[in-house]
Amino acid sequence: MHRSVELEKAYRLLNHGPVTLVTSAHGTARNVMAASWAMPLDFDPPKVAVVIDKTTWTRALIEASGEFALNIPARQIAAAVLEVGNRSGRDGDKFAACQLTTFAAEKIAAPLVEGCVAWLECKIIDEVHQQQSYDLFLAEVVAAHADPRVFDGHWHFADDALRTLHYVAGGAFFQTGAECVVQG
Ligand SMILES: Cc1cc2nc3c(=O)[nH]c(=O)nc-3n(C[C@H](O)[C@H](O)[C@H](O)COP(=O)(O)O)c2cc1C
Repeated sequence: MHRSVELEKAYRLLNHGPVTLVTSAHGTARNVMAASWAMPLDFDPPKVAVVIDKTTWTRALIEASGEFALNIPARQIAAAVLEVGNRSGRDGDKFAACQLTTFAAEKIAAPLVEGCVAWLECKIIDEVHQQQSYDLFLAEVVAAHADPRVFDGHWHFADDALRTLHYVAGGAFFQTGAECVVQG
C-alpha cells in the first residue's frame, strides 16, 4: 500500500534517521543494499545525501544509471535488511534470496521494495570529487511515496511490524519508539 507524498514533505520520510535500502538498476541488472548513512539535505527542491562505498555493486549501477531509490524498511523485513547489507548482488539476485518483492517506481528504473513504509526516488547530482573522495552521493528527490497507515504528513507508529529501524552494529537495530511531541 502506498500513496504519493508531496515533494516538499519528502524530507520527512528520512528526518527520523532510519536505515534505508538503496535500490538501483541499469539495463537488465537490478540490485538492493542496506545503507544507514543517508540524510535529507534540502527542502526545495528536495535533496538527499547517501554514502555508497566503492566496493558495492550498487555503486556501479548508480554511476551507470544516475538514479537510485531510498526505501525505508519496516521492522517486518529487518532480517532481509541485514542480509542485503551483508552480501553482494554480484554473487546472485538478493531480491530472490531475501524474498523481497518489488513494485515499479514512477520516475526511475530502480524497483521499489514491498515491506517498506516509504520510498524516495532520486536522480544523482554529479559531484564527482565528493563521490571519489568521500563515497558521498547527492541526489534530487523526484518522487516520493509512503504507506498511509504510518505517514500522513507526519509519522505515527501504532503497529510494531511497521516501525522503522535504526542500525547500531553487529546485527542490532533499534525500532522507532514512541512519539514525543514537544510544543515550544
Ligand atoms: C544495516 C547496514 C547498513 C549499511 N550502511 C551502509 C552505508 O550507509 N553505506 C555503504 O556503502 N554500505 C553500507 N552497508 C554495507 C552494504 O549494504 C554492503 O556493502 C552490501 O553488501 C553492498 O551490496 P552490493 O554489492 O550488492 O551493492 C550497510 C550494511 C548494513 C547491514
